[in-house]
Amino acid sequence: MAQSSRLSGLRNLSVAERRNAVIEAVGLAPDALDAIAGEGLSFEQADRMIENLIGKIEIPVGVATNITINGKDVLVPMATEEPSVVAAASNIARMSRRFGGIVTTSTEPLMQAQVQILDVTDPTGASARILENKDEILALANEQDPRLVEVGGGARDLLVRRVHGLLDDHLIVHLVVNVGDAMGAKRRQHDAEAIAPRLAEIAGGRSLLRILTNLADMRITRARLTIHPDEVGGPEIIDNMIAGANLAYDDPYRAATHNKGIMNGITAAVLATGNDTRAVEAGAHAYAARDGQYRALSRFEKDKDGNLTATLELPMAVGLVGGATKSHPGARAGVAITEVTTARELAEVITAVGLAQNVAAVRALAAEGIQRGHMGLHARNVAVAAGAEGAEIDAVAAILVERRAVRQDVAETVLADLRSGK
Ligand code: MEV
Repeated sequence: MAQSSRLSGLRNLSVAERRNAVIEAVGLAPDALDAIAGEGLSFEQADRMIENLIGKIEIPVGVATNITINGKDVLVPMATEEPSVVAAASNIARMSRRFGGIVTTSTEPLMQAQVQILDVTDPTGASARILENKDEILALANEQDPRLVEVGGGARDLLVRRVHGLLDDHLIVHLVVNVGDAMGAKRRQHDAEAIAPRLAEIAGGRSLLRILTNLADMRITRARLTIHPDEVGGPEIIDNMIAGANLAYDDPYRAATHNKGIMNGITAAVLATGNDTRAVEAGAHAYAARDGQYRALSRFEKDKDGNLTATLELPMAVGLVGGATKSHPGARAGVAITEVTTARELAEVITAVGLAQNVAAVRALAAEGIQRGHMGLHARNVAVAAGAEGAEIDAVAAILVERRAVRQDVAETVLADLRSGK
């Protein structure tokens, strides 16, 4: 647990000083964040990760502050190119502290692998026969990964699904596996391949696709926070936030943008900890459409005292073992900042950031509008692009905001005036 996630004044420090503040707050070794301070991933390491390597692309890593999860202060690394994201999540996290911060829960880390069975003449009989042999199939799956079984994971269940299609009906078997602290993709694919021939034999057909599903709807995380009306500008703003969030439940066009705001936080934290952003995104969007219509992943309501209660629920397939989480030095630094020791804790931290991010966006939309809300940070970026350095950045940014002209040409003129003492 970080001594405190408040870290006030972080913004005014240099990048190196901020890194040291994080190291101190979390109690990390002095070199723990070196991997995000300089070279980080070497070309040799990168060359082992993908094919035809020609270079690397860098994304800024910030740290979200003020976050309390289940009573513990946590600092969360966020890799993102988008201004305002880190500040917005930190801001809502600060507001949520009045009622104890963010509360999270998660299910067991159950992933599912799918095996498609074709050319079955009696699908109902085949489904029954497969289920009659469940214990044998689960044992066969467990033989593939004895280490996982040793640490308390392993195959848990076998489900048979009949999906009615346009041309064909599909017979699909789901193997449900507790994957422990892994994300779970590679090994589950292996399990599916191992059990497929036996399933096909029992069903009297042939197996085709054998792959995990990213709709990880048995590996769910939930986050909840409460905000007092005074924190956001009054009860009217809360009512407007709820009206805005309700639109995202009802209308897929708004839902896509609302969920994009959630993923601004989630993807940034998933990336900073070396996890598979596409897997989490695919799972989130598929879950958002689980009742047949694409909807908001979060819900906004008011409690009996008029406080805003916001909740978020989505699949979160992230791990701490295997994959880039271990092989990428920057990802190891990211995980170290969070201080998590299990994949479930990491999933909950990421979901908490997603919720804070979402509430921040909806608050800005329901109050001053996103443009004005983001103007301060945007102005700083514009000032930097115009050549401002050090203290000049804030000075130029303040003038741009005051003049309501956050443009590079104006920033250049303001900077020139400032430097010539006008
Ligand atoms: C921008 O990156 C994200 C938002 O559009 C999210 C939202 O509209 O809720 C501000």
